[in-house]
Amino acid sequence: MSDTKNWRFDTKVIHAAQTPEQWKNATQVPIFQTTAHRFDTAEELSEVFGGKKPGFIYSRLRNPTNEALEKRLVQLEGGADAVVTGSGMAAITAALLAICRTGDEIVAGNSLFMSTFLLFNNVFKKFGITVKLVESADLAAWQAAVTDKTRVLFVESIGNPKMDIPDLRKLADLAHANRAPLIVDNTVATPYLCRPFELGADIVVHSTSKYLNGHGTALGGVVIDAGRFDWPADKYPDFTSFKERKGKLAYIDRVWREIHINFGTSQAPLHSYLTLIGVETLALRMERHLSNAMRVAEFLQLHPKVKWVNFPGLAASPAHAMASAQFQGKGYGALLTFGLANEAACFTFIRNVKMIYHLANLGDCKSLVIHPWSSQYLSFTEEARRTNGITPELLRLSVGIESFDDIREDLEQALAAI
Ligand SMILES: Cc1ncc(COP(=O)(O)O)c(C=O)c1O
Repeated sequence: MSDTKNWRFDTKVIHAAQTPEQWKNATQVPIFQTTAHRFDTAEELSEVFGGKKPGFIYSRLRNPTNEALEKRLVQLEGGADAVVTGSGMAAITAALLAICRTGDEIVAGNSLFMSTFLLFNNVFKKFGITVKLVESADLAAWQAAVTDKTRVLFVESIGNPKMDIPDLRKLADLAHANRAPLIVDNTVATPYLCRPFELGADIVVHSTSKYLNGHGTALGGVVIDAGRFDWPADKYPDFTSFKERKGKLAYIDRVWREIHINFGTSQAPLHSYLTLIGVETLALRMERHLSNAMRVAEFLQLHPKVKWVNFPGLAASPAHAMASAQFQGKGYGALLTFGLANEAACFTFIRNVKMIYHLANLGDCKSLVIHPWSSQYLSFTEEARRTNGITPELLRLSVGIESFDDIREDLEQALAAI
């Protein structure tokens, strides 16, 4: 194979870590739809189990199709190694449980996907792990929340659905000054727009169910390790054996060996296959997603029935300057929220969209809309909804890659119905 390191991102999405010769020259990675792999001798199986010889044993541990996706995503983020998981939530859970134990603290940006918020506030609490939530863009708040019990900092590179943009380089510096790693959920930005490792982050997680897959065909997640954090023994004593075994890859080894295998956070090989196909068009899709989103935000901003638009691409957005710098002018994401007169107006809008799908997902090539207050956030207290930036008059729009004119016309006619 050619030296993939020199390829541009748009080529890497298609060719990075492709080894057709390994697959009888098939141009797509085959789906290894098998639970286990057979061995001729007990000696060989023992060697593979003992890590003396590479190989595949059982698909909850490793699977060739999953491994092909891991290698592709590692190259797109510029990491060292990865583990793909059955969902984005499985990735987040595995990423954090591989670091924290009872009594530990996590400091996280408060702009979080709702299941992440519930995991942090309700579930981790039961394990004795405390998560302190701070304003993602308020560095002083992060600083004040860090204590000697802090084991990791966690943030979304574009907050879903608050649309705020943290300063990843400053957060990485703060984490490292406190001898802790920074984990970035890069789902909404994608590696096309933002590469957290280049800004100092140590670990990246994704829900691959979104833009990486791009077609709403498969749930999935990934934990990617930059292989740089050194896990000082006084602060992370549980890492000693992993460091002895894997050195710089101690973290991803622990994610895999301790959490992924035992919690069973495995990915279905078919899902990795579908995601690999989706990834091939990521760069092309993102170009259209980003330009459509900018045009949709500008259109909505001028519409008399729209009270406000929250999109980092608009100059009035508090996140605009940070997004421009961090995403190097490539764009501002393709997710936005906007406000109508009230909840009833949102319901009327949703009843009237014709092309745009009303559903609970984002990052699909199709445009998608949802009223989070009455759906995803229904179980939250009113205060918690507002903390998460959710209000009754808010709609969230994931802008797809259809013709902009068709998106505009659908928005126009649905707004006219209010
Ligand atoms: C930013 C972010 N992280 C994680 C997730 C969870 O991903 P999954 O649904 O694949 O578990 C989502 C889902 O919407 C998300 O938007």
